[in-house]
Amino acid sequence: MIENVLKPEERAAFALRALFEKKGYSAFRMSRFEEYDLYGRNKDFLVSDSVITFTDTDGRLMALKPDVTLSIIKNAKIGSGEKVKAYYNENVYRVSPRTRRFSEIMQAGLECIGNLVSADIAEVVLIALESLSLLGGNFALSVSHMGLIASAFEAAGVSGNVEKEIAAALGSKSIHELERLSAANGLEKKKTALLFSLATASGSINDVTKKLRALDLEADALTAVDELEELAESIKGTPFEKNVVVDFSSVNDMNYYNGIVFSGHLEGVPDIVLSGGSYDKLLHRMSKSGKAIGFAVYLDALESAPDENETEADDDFINIALPKGRLGEKVYSMFAEAGYDCPSIHEPGRKLIFENAEKGVRYFWVKPSDVAIYVERGAADVGVAGKDILLEYSPDVFELADMDVGKCRMCVAAPKNFSDDSEKTLKVATKFVNIAKRYYTSIGREIDIIKLNGSIEIAPILTLSDVIVDIVETGTTLRENDLEVKANILPISARLIANKTSFKFKTERIEKLAESISKTIV
Ligand code: PRP
Repeated sequence: MIENVLKPEERAAFALRALFEKKGYSAFRMSRFEEYDLYGRNKDFLVSDSVITFTDTDGRLMALKPDVTLSIIKNAKIGSGEKVKAYYNENVYRVSPRTRRFSEIMQAGLECIGNLVSADIAEVVLIALESLSLLGGNFALSVSHMGLIASAFEAAGVSGNVEKEIAAALGSKSIHELERLSAANGLEKKKTALLFSLATASGSINDVTKKLRALDLEADALTAVDELEELAESIKGTPFEKNVVVDFSSVNDMNYYNGIVFSGHLEGVPDIVLSGGSYDKLLHRMSKSGKAIGFAVYLDALESAPDENETEADDDFINIALPKGRLGEKVYSMFAEAGYDCPSIHEPGRKLIFENAEKGVRYFWVKPSDVAIYVERGAADVGVAGKDILLEYSPDVFELADMDVGKCRMCVAAPKNFSDDSEKTLKVATKFVNIAKRYYTSIGREIDIIKLNGSIEIAPILTLSDVIVDIVETGTTLRENDLEVKANILPISARLIANKTSFKFKTERIEKLAESISKTIV
């Protein structure tokens, strides 16, 4: 009876609690508040570093809890040689990456801390799998290993900003970006072998480790491969064997995470629903010894779970968002050449959705700047978006290929006679606020941003701004308005992007599509 009035996320919370209890975990009760200092010292560990703070009656700066793990580590009493097995069902308060506003997020999860052996690690991963199975629908657990990623970075000899850029390329499955970064930083092919193997790895744990063993690995990487194989052994024979895939695009912060890390996905739910891993380094940073592993289930993500049967019909197709206009025509012809034609797309009329059941493709024409939104939210599995949009809005998507079309550059432009007076704040008009801010921060120039939505070139002519940051393709618009390029910021081209969850469930089809498309790029 009561079951019927519960929302899916509330039902899941009950089921998870029963599961955690059954596995010998005890409820860990904690306050809604912590001293802010706990988060101030561990900012990078948090999903978002914005925290709601207030001053307590005794003058201490307090925070509404944005995370549970830190509180458990801080408050758990772990005797030497002992283990703490704790679970929780708590609300946390943090900025949602989607709405960019604070929200109350219901989380259930567990932490296993102390004198752990490899069986404890395997047990936590198995409970994560069982947790996903309780949420309903088809699910996948992506497994990665921070030891292998750290070893790949070390072998390549990268650190600092280059490491960050390489981690981002690995995180978005962008082989083309890895190649570009390797060339730009003069990385030797021999030294990047592990990095490229991780970037292209997909399939079961044993398939992947077999390939990795063929490489010349350092001791740390070999230990990581051993740990992955031990995990594969523990999962063997369970009902979840087929639900586990290796994917090194989960690059967690290396200051905190060390060993196996994983993320859980439900078919039809665009956001990650579970995230966890080994975080010995965080434990040590908080002056506790031993090992630690845990995971959290993001119950609010279940709100967007599809109704039963909804995913089944969709499953037969790859849904593709194409940018309406000249670029879209060119891009569609590349898809058609790659074997994904859809003759009905040429029929006259104002229809925006076309499908070819035989080829398993469904195309949507959308506004070019909206493609990334359709893909990020899972309304489309893949799409083609300009690098300008990807850099400006940082959608959480995979970037599978540089299509080498729609080429242009992001530039600073101004009237020919303009000369920059560094004593004054520079007025910059643009549609690309984030790109412009990042560029001027990198050169240490103070600016005043004026956000416009189009016809940017008029702004300096009417003295609304000093300069503009905009796209230049042929240069005609600048010339006809007596402006000229003052600095090149970056080259732009169209990229093939994919929804992260769709990629988990339509892996082979999306990989084949990306490969076929790559072959059409000359
Ligand atoms: C873009 C850009 C420039 C123009 C550059 O505008 O903002 O105005 O193209 O191309 P060109 O170098 O070949 O002249 P878009 O057509 O997207 O329209 P907008 O004015 O709405 O930004």
